[in-house]
Amino acid sequence: MKKQKIGFTETVLRDSSQSLIATRLPYSKMEPILETMDKAGYYSCEVWGGATFDVCLRFLGEDPWERLRKIREHMPNTKLQMLLRGQNILGYKHYPDDIVRRFVRKSVENGIDIIRIFDALNDTQNLKVAIEETVKCGAMASGTISYTTSPVHTLAKNVETVNELVKMGVSSICIKDMAGICTPQSMYDLVSAIKDAQPDMPLVMHTHCTTGMAYMTYLKGIEAGADVIDTAISPFSGGTSQPATETFFEALSEMGYPVSLNKEVIYKMADYFKPIRNDYIKDGTLNPISMGTDTQCLNYQIPGGMLSNLLSQLKTLNALDKFEDALKETPLVRKDMGYPPLVTPTSQIVGTQAVANVMAGQRYKNVNDQIKAYCRGEYGHTPAPIDPEIQKQILAGEEPLKVRYADTLPTDTYEKTKEALGETARCEEDVLSYIAFPQVAEKFFEERKANEEKVVKYSITEA
Ligand code: CO
Repeated sequence: MKKQKIGFTETVLRDSSQSLIATRLPYSKMEPILETMDKAGYYSCEVWGGATFDVCLRFLGEDPWERLRKIREHMPNTKLQMLLRGQNILGYKHYPDDIVRRFVRKSVENGIDIIRIFDALNDTQNLKVAIEETVKCGAMASGTISYTTSPVHTLAKNVETVNELVKMGVSSICIKDMAGICTPQSMYDLVSAIKDAQPDMPLVMHTHCTTGMAYMTYLKGIEAGADVIDTAISPFSGGTSQPATETFFEALSEMGYPVSLNKEVIYKMADYFKPIRNDYIKDGTLNPISMGTDTQCLNYQIPGGMLSNLLSQLKTLNALDKFEDALKETPLVRKDMGYPPLVTPTSQIVGTQAVANVMAGQRYKNVNDQIKAYCRGEYGHTPAPIDPEIQKQILAGEEPLKVRYADTLPTDTYEKTKEALGETARCEEDVLSYIAFPQVAEKFFEERKANEEKVVKYSITEA
């Protein structure tokens, strides 16, 4: 059988550093290697979206849009990719359609070629607007399935979702296993089923090494016909990150799969990132635990990031002894909520409720606004119906929505925000940053201005 060409998506600048060092890689540490990376022959490089936007503004004092433009400038030959949370864009709640469209358009204008679009519930209604706009802007939309297992997530259901995404105009399909729980055989079956239904649609696999399955899972997926894999250059691979780029390059080349990567270039990249990784270990940003294997996720189907969230919530409540109970409660809450895949923001909604349930010693006695919004339907259709009794209890007399939530949102958010910001917002990008993260963006704008005034003052004294 002729072996398919395998493309690589490099994740070191986004998911890999998000998973290992909480997205703390500043642009200054990327710049020296960008021109080398541009010569590697990647299918694409994931460089933006996910948590990068928030972290740039909140912790790194960087304008995320400017970061994107600079990367674009240094990497003219590589397809730049971002991760978008569908109707949530880069935040944690749904935004009006015109904001989603503006955000997509500006992402493409500033340099993005491929937008990987996912929804935490796999509700394709939440992906439609972003996909439509991406295609309209001349970029490639990668329609994504957030991978999970449950009695309702059958192969047939996944194929149905894929068929809908293809109809919406996507250029590729991505199986996104954010928790690294997809086993080799499950991936083989899923890829086979999707390839049977959509043989010509490029199929991308995304996973994390957290549980130790990743290398086997990719290999089985490739045997079933998958076309592209997400990998990270070795110093930033493994653990909660992706499998290593060089390892797959060597293994697949030997097996006779055409691979277009330039070996010399990827080894040069590894040499560059090694000391950077070591510095992060030394200063504590990179916790060696996150580089190991943790099979607990397989039992509870809880993504790694969510495990650490549960731990920190319980620590704050001085109730670490309830960790085991919270772990057991999480899949039960997930079932009550209609088996959502656990990814931002559903992981947060389910995890927080599980903690609330074990802390109160009574289920759903304490509920927050976010789970109420979820039960009202503000996040879209759940994979299975929410347990009707529990839904009623949480909504306490309120009615669930009968229409798509985004259709109920105001359509003048952009104009109003722009007016309110006045001169503080210098461009459409600034307004969008503010709409996505108001307080964080405001603080960033103030610091930006203060820094500029400092520079002006300094140069006057110097002159
Ligand atoms: Co990921």
